[in-house]
Amino acid sequence: MRARVQSVTVTWVRTGLGLHLPAWQSHHRTPQLNFSDFQHCGRGSCIRRYSGLTSSPRSSTFYRQLSARHTNSIPLSSQISHRLYPAQPRCYTTMAPVPKTMSGILIEETGGVEVLKWKTDLPVPELKEGEILVRNEFVGVNFIDTYFRTGLYKSPLPLITGKEAAGTIIAAHPSVHTSDPSLQEGTCVAYVADHAYAELTAVGADRAAAIPAGLATDTAAASLLQGLTALTFVREAAGLARPGDQVKGQGQLGVSEGPWALVHAAAGGTGLMLVQMLAAHGARVIGTAGGEAKCALARGNGAQWVVDSKSEDVVGRVREITGGKGVDVIFDGVGKATFDGDLEMIARKGTLVVFGNASGPVPPVDVLKLGAKNIKLMRPQLVSYIVTKEERAAYTKELFELLLAGKVKVKIHEVYPLKDVGQAHSDLEGRKTAGKLLLKV
Ligand SMILES: NC(=O)c1ccc[n+]([C@@H]2O[C@H](COP(=O)([O-])OP(=O)(O)OC[C@H]3O[C@@H](n4cnc5c(N)ncnc54)[C@H](OP(=O)(O)O)[C@@H]3O)[C@@H](O)[C@H]2O)c1
Repeated sequence: MRARVQSVTVTWVRTGLGLHLPAWQSHHRTPQLNFSDFQHCGRGSCIRRYSGLTSSPRSSTFYRQLSARHTNSIPLSSQISHRLYPAQPRCYTTMAPVPKTMSGILIEETGGVEVLKWKTDLPVPELKEGEILVRNEFVGVNFIDTYFRTGLYKSPLPLITGKEAAGTIIAAHPSVHTSDPSLQEGTCVAYVADHAYAELTAVGADRAAAIPAGLATDTAAASLLQGLTALTFVREAAGLARPGDQVKGQGQLGVSEGPWALVHAAAGGTGLMLVQMLAAHGARVIGTAGGEAKCALARGNGAQWVVDSKSEDVVGRVREITGGKGVDVIFDGVGKATFDGDLEMIARKGTLVVFGNASGPVPPVDVLKLGAKNIKLMRPQLVSYIVTKEERAAYTKELFELLLAGKVKVKIHEVYPLKDVGQAHSDLEGRKTAGKLLLKV
């Protein structure tokens, strides 16, 4: 069930107070309220969202609690108005004590979906320096999770896999209180980090970002990893300029008009993000997708041409669409099944970005094949583009701004209970999904 999200407008007596209220926020432990951030505060007033109330905001108890808390930390009037927003998931975890055990999904041996075991007695991770403990609400499912499950990507076992989630910080190592005051207990965050298939995850604070007001928790969980992948790959792997920075009359990737870009699996989670970002960067986007419904989705998200990979000759159609030139940049997360076709479709001096193995890993490549068209071949990974705190912060900020402005949208295919992660993996590997898969914890 979705948490109902509401807003409170607090009118301050004095202005220019900073309005961050860290003291109030971090010392607040009553279960009735769960405020997270104050990003929408301006001079003299502050609109904020909250959820997870056990007492009604209309009740006098609520006003007394709120006023008492605020007047403890900063002077303000008690003029508080509120209104209901449409249901929009927002972190609502109450500040219960940290438990000793938790539920989650454990992989003890690699294999099929049957190795994803639901457990209710997993030890809660102990916080190390610089870490926060996040009570996950929504966990993103990514194709990479299947690689760790099958053993294509190696990891010590037993393993709690999962690479991204959104939820509430319920504890922070004391070092975080000084190093990152914006990430304290009660803050609603999204992160890209390991071990997300669980109720609680210990995350390096520098891997997490506070979810801005106005962005729902499920949207944040559904967009972070794949949105950052698309943004960094379009900018850094393909080298396309930020939309505002494009110099009129000067082409990108050495071409005079918008470059031709091809996205395989364009209706997938990452594919939909790539298509939208490429369109925003001025590319002429061709998508491939399996089946009519997926093709329509890719078209609706910015692919000007879509080729049905189940029923059409992709190479022939792309040659036709580009007037025989081929495409300047290809984004291929399908891998083994599409790589040879990529070498045919790529234009002279084109960039081939192979970034995944949905159909299996690409076998070792004979580099001599690249010479005929002077192809640039890349095999990037997101994590290597967001190594520094500055890189992570800048790209995350940009992604959140794009989402808040509605310039990039997320399509959630389905939200599965965490317990049913096996079904989610089956659907993803079976090409039955379009958009993002989430797990509800
Ligand atoms: N390198 C990185 O940092 C990075 C980051 C994020 C994602 N990725 C990669 O991006 C790719 C997409 O990931 P995602 O999580 O967004 O998944 P997804 O695209 O939502 O799902 C995979 C899609 O791949 C297509 N596909 C084609 N042949 C397939 C096959 N034999 N088996 C399964 N799927 C096949 C299917 O779309 P159609 O039915 O339309 O063909 C399927 O829906 C994956 O390879 C993933 O590893 C890499």
